[in-house]
Amino acid sequence: MTNSLSKTDLKKHRQQFPGLINKTYFNFGGQGTMPNTAFEAIIDTHKYIQQVGPFSGQINAWLNNQVNLLREAIATELGTTPKTITLTENVTAGCNIAMWGIDWHQGDRILMSDCEHPGIIATVEEIAQRFGVEVDICPIMETLNSGDPVAVIRSNLTENTRLVVLSHLLWNTGQVLPLKEIAQACHNYPAQKTIRVMVDAAQSVGSLCLNLPELEIDYYAFTGHKWLCGPAGVGGLYISQQAFPELNPTFIGWRGVEMDDRGKPVAWKQDGTKFEVATSAYPEYEGLRNAIATHQEWGDKSDRYQRICELSKYLWEQLQNIERVSCLKHTPPEAGLVSFQVAGREHKQLVNSLEQQGFLLRTIADPDCIRACVHYLTLPEEIDSLIAAIEKNI
Ligand SMILES: Cc1ncc(COP(=O)(O)O)c(C=O)c1O
Repeated sequence: MTNSLSKTDLKKHRQQFPGLINKTYFNFGGQGTMPNTAFEAIIDTHKYIQQVGPFSGQINAWLNNQVNLLREAIATELGTTPKTITLTENVTAGCNIAMWGIDWHQGDRILMSDCEHPGIIATVEEIAQRFGVEVDICPIMETLNSGDPVAVIRSNLTENTRLVVLSHLLWNTGQVLPLKEIAQACHNYPAQKTIRVMVDAAQSVGSLCLNLPELEIDYYAFTGHKWLCGPAGVGGLYISQQAFPELNPTFIGWRGVEMDDRGKPVAWKQDGTKFEVATSAYPEYEGLRNAIATHQEWGDKSDRYQRICELSKYLWEQLQNIERVSCLKHTPPEAGLVSFQVAGREHKQLVNSLEQQGFLLRTIADPDCIRACVHYLTLPEEIDSLIAAIEKNI
């Protein structure tokens, strides 16, 4: 165990997260545990809105400023500029903005990995059905331990492919895909139109150390309520400068348009706000902004990612020592998702028993496994007690 794993100030830092006190939590990929700063900011913002408004010149200007501060905080986490960020409700909303915003034609093709989330698959299927678009699914799951995901993607591109849909950090196996190489393969492919890359970033935002422009992807949809530990209901979408002009808004409202002196819409906004619609739950925005600030107080995104990797490696090693347990990944995880199988034990039953004993994990259907999520907030002793509980329960 390295020194950084036993950083003493983490225990103090964790006291700000009430959800961590009464249980041993390994479900950050489902939803993060909110810090007190986030709860307080939400309530304080509601109170302030009532005091100064709820609708007034003063409160509207204040809210506008706070929204911009959230956009800046998110942009810093993602290594990008605020104007590339659209605020949304969740990952799925961001994916829908990107996918419905493309000018589809019959015969266009979407290439999707075989590890995508049901809501994204359903959207792709509806687009296919509505516009006569063909869907190709490529086998990425089998590249977890050997093989080359870039080669798999490249060999499945066609001259009619318009969009590639995949996740950065696969929610089922924990694999991190080499997005830059994939984006370059897509953008350099001699297709009829540039092949765009849309990334489901549900598991990567708040866990990986990100610099989005360097990855060269086109759309990157994320949420604040998982690894960033914000409230449910606030997420975002990054759109690259290259992809921005050709993407059309599908849901439209006053937040996305420029208005003339008489308040009539005259043009789209020329930044991420083009895809924002209308009134939102602004106090929740303040919740996410404060959650991000709380993480940054402990360490920058690179420190947090490094700690996640040290801890997930520790969990992965301990799991290997249990006779009937095998991790899906044969080498240490590249992020916080650790998926494993237990021979001769129904995974659902095991997860249920562990939950009754205060250890929160989840099962995954495909591949059939159990997923434990390790955050920078996780303590090594929590991993030790999870290992003991698994040994006792199998
Ligand atoms: C990979 C992936 N995509 C999408 C989602 C859905 O996220 P949201 O509810 O924020 O749209 C999840 C949530 O579990 C996920 O893991």
